[in-house]
Amino acid sequence: MSLNMNSIIAKKRDGGKLTEEEIRYFVEGYTKGDIPDYQASALLMAIYLKEMDEEETFILTSAMRDSGDIIDLSAIKGIKVDKHSTGGIGDKITLVAGPLAAACGVPIAKMSGRGLGFTGGTIDKLESIPGFQTTLEPEDFYKQVEEIGISLIGQSGHIAPADKKIYALRDVTATVGNLSLISSSIMSKKLAAGSDAIVLDVKCGKGAFMENEEEAVKLAETMCKIGNSAGKKTVAVLTDMNQPLGHAVGNALEVIEAIDCLKGTGPKDVTDLALYLSGLMVYLGGKASSPEEGHEKVEEALSSGRALEVLRKLIVAQGGNGDVVSDYDILPKAQHSVDLILNEEMLKSSGIEGAKEVYVSEMENRLIGIASQLTGAGRAVKEDEIDPSAGVIVHKKIGDQVKLGEVLATFYGNDEKKVTNAIKEAASIYTFSMEPTEAPVLIKRTIM
Ligand code: URA
Repeated sequence: MSLNMNSIIAKKRDGGKLTEEEIRYFVEGYTKGDIPDYQASALLMAIYLKEMDEEETFILTSAMRDSGDIIDLSAIKGIKVDKHSTGGIGDKITLVAGPLAAACGVPIAKMSGRGLGFTGGTIDKLESIPGFQTTLEPEDFYKQVEEIGISLIGQSGHIAPADKKIYALRDVTATVGNLSLISSSIMSKKLAAGSDAIVLDVKCGKGAFMENEEEAVKLAETMCKIGNSAGKKTVAVLTDMNQPLGHAVGNALEVIEAIDCLKGTGPKDVTDLALYLSGLMVYLGGKASSPEEGHEKVEEALSSGRALEVLRKLIVAQGGNGDVVSDYDILPKAQHSVDLILNEEMLKSSGIEGAKEVYVSEMENRLIGIASQLTGAGRAVKEDEIDPSAGVIVHKKIGDQVKLGEVLATFYGNDEKKVTNAIKEAASIYTFSMEPTEAPVLIKRTIM
């Protein structure tokens, strides 16, 4: 019997298991434009409600991977290792972990994304460095990795075009939050990007796709299974996203913080996570016999300054001014800044009256991402221009003691109105308590 969307939708609606032929029929037909949005939406909703099993999820991922170019990195010698984060606030880890792993001999040929909504993207951060080019011809991309060990470029439009179309539809049909759909979306792009091994940083908490740890574990396990079944050694690390990573949120601000980490003067959480993930990258890249040895190697790459030198070379190779690693004035600077100050009103919202000194007990992390976006650091829609100097420096985080009148966070940007607007959103970011609160554990578990 010939395939048709109506019967595929009905089968999934009734809880049936789709065959490879049916899944590929949908993915190929929808990518080509032969299947209309209304039928694709109906199928996505049926998948959302009735779910897919492991086999269906793997087939969906493979079909989406096969919908576009599959990058061939075989021209680059060695085991190429990719790293991917499911997205977070202040996540500048690639800028630190990439040079650390490259400094230990792991070739990093990485395509990164741009920010959309409340999360940032590595490519926007790099583009805040004047002159930095994020588009390279394939030959130049390979040559650069051969010569200096690393290249970071933007994602080509031909990688997993099925995901691009399906994701846009999920976004407007309330079908984003499904395990099979998220894991196939992420992994189709990772499998097409050509690396031999993958380290996944799966975020969990208030600023993440998965707020709940149990769901984040399931997502991590599913993505590891997909990667390993596709012949790419995949490891996932579950990490906290209940507060920003480090203090800086926003493009140039995050570049400064990443450079600080490579100088050994950055925030401990960013440095610890970058060392942990890059240690795993070094292990998967065959340059260490265990994750522990990988960790020792990246620690040495950091303390010797070799990783900072790799970042400088990367910036120069892609057209930027390498002096930025020692002169932050080269980066765009915001003309306006406004402080968020702890006042009695905020304490009242936490049910506290008359106190002069409190502790930060919780943060609405997503709101920080939204406020940063409002300063001009992020985009509401793809076409929005971003202000590379804009963003937030979060001075106080969970567990920190804070006095009435003290600055909690500073908002930066070139558009005064935007900065003022952003700070209005920010009033309810913090919750306080009279009792000391432990900061959340950053690295929760590793799934190999
Ligand atoms: N990131 C993706 O690329 N896809 C999803 O579905 C969720 C996060």
